[in-house]
Amino acid sequence: MKAQLPFLLVVPFDTPLLEQESCLSGNLLGNYRNGYSLQSVFITDEECISSWAAQTESLSAVFTPAVQGFRQLVWIAEEAIDDSLKVPTSEDQLDLFLERLSSPPQAQDEETFLDSNQDVFIETSKDTGFQLLYRGSSAALLSVPSRVALHLDTVLPRFWKSTPVPSFPIEFIPIPPSSIEPMKSVLANLAYDSSVATIVDSISVPQMRNDIRFLTGEDGQSGIVSRHSFSQGSRVAAAWLKQRFEETGATCRLMSFMQGFAPNVICRYESMVNTTGTVIISGHYDSRGSFGSTRMPGGDDDGSGTTAVLSIARAIARNGVKFRQIVELVAFAGEEQGLYGSRAYANELRSLDANVTLMIQADMLAYRKPGEPMQLGLPKSIGTPEVAQLVANISALYSPELEVGITPACCSDHQSFHEQGYASTQVFERAGPIVDPMYHNSGDLSDREGFDFDQLKAIAKVQFATVLHYAGFELHK
Ligand SMILES: *[C@@H]1O[C@H](CO)[C@@H](O)[C@H](O)[C@H]1NC(C)=O
Ligand SMILES: *[C@@H]1O[C@H](CO)[C@@H](O)[C@H](O)[C@H]1NC(C)=O
Ligand SMILES: *[C@@H]1O[C@H](CO)[C@@H](O)[C@H](O)[C@H]1NC(C)=O
Ligand SMILES: [Zn+2]
Repeated sequence: MKAQLPFLLVVPFDTPLLEQESCLSGNLLGNYRNGYSLQSVFITDEECISSWAAQTESLSAVFTPAVQGFRQLVWIAEEAIDDSLKVPTSEDQLDLFLERLSSPPQAQDEETFLDSNQDVFIETSKDTGFQLLYRGSSAALLSVPSRVALHLDTVLPRFWKSTPVPSFPIEFIPIPPSSIEPMKSVLANLAYDSSVATIVDSISVPQMRNDIRFLTGEDGQSGIVSRHSFSQGSRVAAAWLKQRFEETGATCRLMSFMQGFAPNVICRYESMVNTTGTVIISGHYDSRGSFGSTRMPGGDDDGSGTTAVLSIARAIARNGVKFRQIVELVAFAGEEQGLYGSRAYANELRSLDANVTLMIQADMLAYRKPGEPMQLGLPKSIGTPEVAQLVANISALYSPELEVGITPACCSDHQSFHEQGYASTQVFERAGPIVDPMYHNSGDLSDREGFDFDQLKAIAKVQFATVLHYAGFELHK
């Protein structure tokens, strides 16, 4: 680190800027969304900022001078939501949030964020002092006490999410051509395979309906009120998921990544051939509510993606599928606090130099606005375009009823893998912004208008078919 005081620089995301040699090289703190675009945050010194600003007048920049003694930096940003969800208020959502943040929660307010069985809640620090370092149109950069950073979701407006920003630079790792080439070759040789169609069609809607009702607590049996990462319900869900995946022949482990958080559930099918190549499909099983909302059933977000991945495991077992690469099915926790679980896992894989060839995250698959066609959305900003293209073309073969398009909804767990240089994308329920009226709400149940199991199955089929085509498979029955 340089001797001078650190300055933060917030600029529009620009790959050449990250790749070319400059005083900014090696000083990236990450890329974060602001409205429909991305911004890069750098940590640097005053001299670099002046020289950099002199070269590139065309880009707008925000300098945050001399941040001293910051505790945890967090980026908060508004989700891309459909106009129909926007509530006209006279007050700015960000102002309301900052007001709430300045008044420490009363004991009984804390109660409302907890389910009755919650035993692992880390008490919110009474010291909620924060610094607003940067304010964008739909985003802000704050410095807060680290404990507060973990609990921002309980005070954030419903359509805002927080992401921790590291205090030390991260490496910018582009996706290497050696990951892209095989993707292109699978795409170029892609053809409808009737045995793939038979396998993916065997995904069972009644089974998905049962599975999701356990996760949301709608079955009246699981006792799950919330799957918030710090809740008892998330532990119940993790243990249950591990068992269900193991029943399909996978080897699973619970990966604890941070005190207080429920673990990632990581399950693996070995390869038929000797390879390190690993394909990962995933969803996040943690849920969130919003200010004042106690129940967090997370039926669509992301009970749907979790159920899709589980339905794929069940179909693997039912059809006796064996793969020609290692295949991992993962249910992440900590997504809602800022991709904590997936970051821990992607970092671990990178540190082991793991050969992850493809990663597809399923986050929110089931909601279809009445009157709209069934859709599949692929991410506009975070992800590997070649992976998205492969998924789109596979969708046309096996789920032609889906209208495929681009979504500005952004930044689920695939971002963690993308940041580590792994080819990845996300599948989403809509070729447009979020339109689910129960998003981050106690009404996010599976038994409601618009929750469409046929769309859920259609997208799960695409995720599964992509793995079958990309990893290769044999049937052993
Ligand atoms: C993928 O699908 C698009 C749209 O149908 C088509 O134009 C393109 O040729 C396909 N790509 C490949 C490599 O088959
Ligand atoms: C698998 O491949 C590696 C690297 O090519 C080799 O070292 C290893 O012996 C092989 N293992 C088996 C069981 O064939
Ligand atoms: C990674 O796995 C792929 C797919 O099995 C394989 O072709 C490639 O050689 C592997 N890469 C390395 C560096 O082992
Ligand atoms: Zn989600």
